[in-house]
Amino acid sequence: MYKELMEAAKRARANAYCRYSHFAVGAALLTEDGSVFTGCNVENAAYGECICAERTAVVKAVSEGHRKFAAIAICGAPEDEEPEKPCPPCGACRQVLAEFGGGEMQVILTDGVYTLGALLPGRFSL
Ligand code: THU
Repeated sequence: MYKELMEAAKRARANAYCRYSHFAVGAALLTEDGSVFTGCNVENAAYGECICAERTAVVKAVSEGHRKFAAIAICGAPEDEEPEKPCPPCGACRQVLAEFGGGEMQVILTDGVYTLGALLPGRFSL
């Protein structure tokens, strides 16, 4: 399943809109009920409005009624390269993932599988 999820992330990466950084990222999110939502980074001329691939996938899932996440596969690299090196999620995306995934949520990178709890110890919660 994790290999399939990474393949979905790679396909989503092909849609990355990254004309400013030229760094293309893809993500594929697996919900607890087995649905998959993909995302890519979507940049903007106002750089602060750039949206990460992970958050694209999260917003797609939540807006379709899915709030429990089991795993996410992420791949990223300069747009003209194959995503071989791991592309760990940024801090903001870790916090957003933690809203819907527990510490045991699996974060699949190209070099292995991590838990969200290990990537974001001491997350903020209300
Ligand atoms: N990016 C992601 O999509 N996910 C991350 O976790 C880190 C960075 C994107 C944002 C921007 O479009 C590009 O990669 C370079 O930072």
